[in-house]
Formats: sequence, C-alpha cells, structure tokens
Amino acid sequence: MQPGGTDDDGVPFGNETVAPEEKTRRVAGVFASVAGRYDLMNDLMSAGAHRAWKAGLIDRLNPQPADLLIDVAGGTGDVARGFLARSRAAAARRGLPHVARAIVADINPDMLAAGRRRGHAEGLSWICADAAALPFPDRTADAVSIAFGIRNVARIEQALAEFRRVLRPGGRFACLEFSRMRSTALQEIYDRYSFGVIPELGRFVTGDRASYQYLVESIRRFPDQETFAAMVRAAGFAEVRVTDLAGGAVALHTGWAV
Ligand SMILES: C[S@@+](CC[C@H](N)C(=O)[O-])C[C@H]1O[C@@H](n2cnc3c(N)ncnc32)[C@H](O)[C@@H]1O
Repeated sequence: MQPGGTDDDGVPFGNETVAPEEKTRRVAGVFASVAGRYDLMNDLMSAGAHRAWKAGLIDRLNPQPADLLIDVAGGTGDVARGFLARSRAAAARRGLPHVARAIVADINPDMLAAGRRRGHAEGLSWICADAAALPFPDRTADAVSIAFGIRNVARIEQALAEFRRVLRPGGRFACLEFSRMRSTALQEIYDRYSFGVIPELGRFVTGDRASYQYLVESIRRFPDQETFAAMVRAAGFAEVRVTDLAGGAVALHTGWAV
C-alpha cells in the first residue's frame, strides 16, 4: 500500500476502494452533478473561509507580473483569478506591463463551463485535462497550484510527478487540501459537523446528498499532513513545508522545483 492509499488493486473513493479508472469516472459524476451550485456550497460549508485559505495559497505563490500559473483541478477558477489579480497589482506597483497568464486545468467540462460563466479575466484560460497527464511541455510554468483537488485524483503520485515536470527550476508549488486537526477533541466535533451537516446541506442546495457524502468520506481517507508532505518530497520537490489552517482541518503544502 502506498502512502496515498493506492495499491495495485485500488484507490479510495469515499469509503470504498475502487479501480483508478472507476474513481475517475465516479469523481466526474460528482462534479458534473454539483457544478452549477459548487461555488455557493463552498461558501456555505466553510462559512466563506475557503476564500481566506485560497488567498493564503496565492500569497505563498508570490505572483509576479510575467508569471505563468497552472492551476490544476482549478474548477471554477477562484485561485487562477486571485493569482491574476495579485500579479496585476504587483505589475502596477512596479510600473511593469502585466503579462501574467493563468491556466485552469480541470478534468471536468461542467466545472470549466461554470467557471467561464463567471466572466473573462485578462490572461485567464481554461483547459480540460487530467492532473496525471498534463498537456504542457516540461519546465514551462512558474507556479503550479491545486486547491481541494488532489484528494479527487485517482493517481496522486503520477499527478505530483506531472506538477514537478511542468514547473521550471525554481518554480513554486502549493497545494491546499483537507487534512487532520491536531486536537482530537476538535477533530471529533468537526467530524460530527462534517458527517451530520454537510451531506444534508448538499441535498438541500444541490439536490445531491451522495456527492457531499463522498466529500466527507474522501476527506477522512486522504493522507495526513506528514504523510502527504513525504509524498510531495518523494516527487522531487525541495523545502517542502506544511502550514495548518483551521487547526489542521485544512493544510497548505508548499515546495520548490529544483
Ligand atoms: C473540490 S473541486 C476544487 C475546485 C477548485 N480548485 C476550488 O478550490 O474551488 C475539485 C476539482 O477537481 C477536479 N478533478 C478531479 N479529478 C481530477 C483530475 N484527475 N484531474 C484534474 N482535475 C480533477 C474536479 O473536476 C473538480 O473541479
């Protein structure tokens, strides 16, 4: 069994273990079903906190006026848009032209369509792609991000290798994902909230309880902070750091391509 919960036979899909292809198919179904209400659910489930977590990730990427960001599993484009706003501000501060680009690479056409409906931003583009087979040449990106996406990817090690491959030497990597709270008492309260409230909220807002049951189960099965940091290091990233957010309910992993 690999640290990411994968072995030759299967990978986690919620509480089940399934073939990687089956996970990819079922995850596609989850996000196709919730795409139209995805942004609203994020705000409701986290009481808006996901915005601050994403802003923290963008801080660590330190957007520059001429950067290329690939935001993998970028969904409706929160991180890509935030990155471009920050690189535009950096350009204005220094009196430089703003030529930064951000590509949202997501496997799900419905999520990309929901993102496009939010309107265009200068430098923003969208591409339908699997994290484990990115359609970009080696060493092209200045930054690669993935927010609440890696847990959904069937072949996590392969995806991390892809992130490393497409980054130029010195490029920055940042990953936000649900993780483990450091306090057992708080984790118990959080679990009660997750399992008791989120699937019902999902049913009420999106009409799809099962997708939000998958969400809470998949969070439980995703590796903890240290295990995932070891996977990021094993993919060849340097200076891998972990920052706990919300007491560890969410973790930000960062590293450098060398
Ligand atoms: C929870 S959403 C996160 C969206 C966005 N990053 C955010 O934080 O709002 C997870 C996203 O991962 C995408 N996804 C799942 N598996 C993927 C894969 N193998 N490759 C690329 N994207 C994937 C889904 O389509 C979905 O848009």
